[in-house]
Amino acid sequence: MRVMRTLMLWLLPIILLCSFCSVAFWIFLSNNNVIPHPSSRIPQKSSETKSCKGCSKDNVLIAKGLENYSHKWKKHEANFKRFRSLLSSKCYAVSKAVVTKNNTPLGSNVIYDGERRKPLQVTQALFNILVKEQPFGNATWESCAVVGNGGILANSSCGEEINSAQFVIRCNLPPLDNRYEKDVGNKTSLVTANPSILHEKYSGLMERRRPFVESLRPYGQALLLLPAFSYGHNTPVSLRAFYTLEDFGSDSPLPVFLNPEYLRRLSKFWRERGLNSVRPSTGLIMASLALEICSNVHLYGFWPFNKHPNDNRPITNHYYDDRESKKNVHSMPTEFEHLLKLHKQGVIRIHLGECQPT
Ligand SMILES: *[C@@H]1O[C@H](CO)[C@@H](O)[C@H](O)[C@H]1NC(C)=O
Ligand SMILES: *[C@@H]1O[C@H](CO)[C@@H](O)[C@H](O)[C@H]1NC(C)=O
Ligand SMILES: *[C@@H]1O[C@H](CO)[C@@H](O)[C@H](O)[C@H]1NC(C)=O
Ligand SMILES: *[C@@H]1O[C@H](CO)[C@@H](O)[C@H](O)[C@H]1NC(C)=O
Repeated sequence: MRVMRTLMLWLLPIILLCSFCSVAFWIFLSNNNVIPHPSSRIPQKSSETKSCKGCSKDNVLIAKGLENYSHKWKKHEANFKRFRSLLSSKCYAVSKAVVTKNNTPLGSNVIYDGERRKPLQVTQALFNILVKEQPFGNATWESCAVVGNGGILANSSCGEEINSAQFVIRCNLPPLDNRYEKDVGNKTSLVTANPSILHEKYSGLMERRRPFVESLRPYGQALLLLPAFSYGHNTPVSLRAFYTLEDFGSDSPLPVFLNPEYLRRLSKFWRERGLNSVRPSTGLIMASLALEICSNVHLYGFWPFNKHPNDNRPITNHYYDDRESKKNVHSMPTEFEHLLKLHKQGVIRIHLGECQPT
């Protein structure tokens, strides 16, 4: 029993990390339109490299998927409506995606989605820092861009197009400085922050905290979405992020907590559609959220492979570095396959390749 628990304790963070990494992958996927002869450009088995253990399998998958990738994408209104009402009847992103005073009463229990046996009781102190109601605004956004961090975004010139979306979602505090602005834009409506990045880049907010606040400036007054209740050990560091912004961060992003109940529902939704990973990646979570709160969903930077689909040139793991992710190699391509299917059905638009100058 004890051994199992210890094992789980070690495994959980790894799993978490993996799911975040997957986002990165996604991200690769993204950009645009012109993919004239996809099959000829798919990374070939022979070019398999470095981090890419499962690549040959991926290549086949992607080659198959891209068969149906069309740059002449057109929204299919009926398919979109059908998918969205299915999703929102099961997941309720609008009212449930974030922990609020409305959906989480004082004295109730928050059930960690990765650690169900140890619920957290909502004390007065915790209740006090919850937002009152859902923070996405009442309107359905006309257009949303979900921006993954994949290397496919490098040199894509998609910044302007991304900025033109009404609601822009980014993953895991990506850099937005002027080295990247042309490719990824600088507008942010919601940005996620993985507890692991808080540990790696900001010493878990146990030391100087002002650098953290400073580094959030590029996101303006976006929502800062913290997965505080996935695992018990995520909670203290997420709360420190909250308190840091409360103490130092006027005009800083508004920290809100991802609701584990939403995550559970979303995992179930995707599991029922054949996705067998422990949980969806941040990228898929954000794409799903967007499908409920936006009328037109565009994905950029989602591409879980290390070759560019247009010309096979090697691409880095992220648009800003080539750090290898300890990824969940298995679920990323599968997730991507699901998104490609939605792309084909005219539900969601995946951008691969370069954006056209507007
Ligand atoms: C691509 O489209 C063709 C024709 O509609 C279909 O037969 C094939 O199964 C599709 N491939 C994938 C991977 O969806
Ligand atoms: C949202 O909009 C609907 C319809 O316009 C309205 O009935 C509802 O009260 C609004 N809710 C909030 C929280 O503003
Ligand atoms: C982007 O373009 C620059 C300059 O042309 C080049 O040095 C760099 O390698 C390119 N990056 C990628 C990922 O293609
Ligand atoms: C984005 O860049 C433009 C042009 O450089 C600037 O005017 C604008 O204030 C920036 N927006 C944000 C949110 O940083």
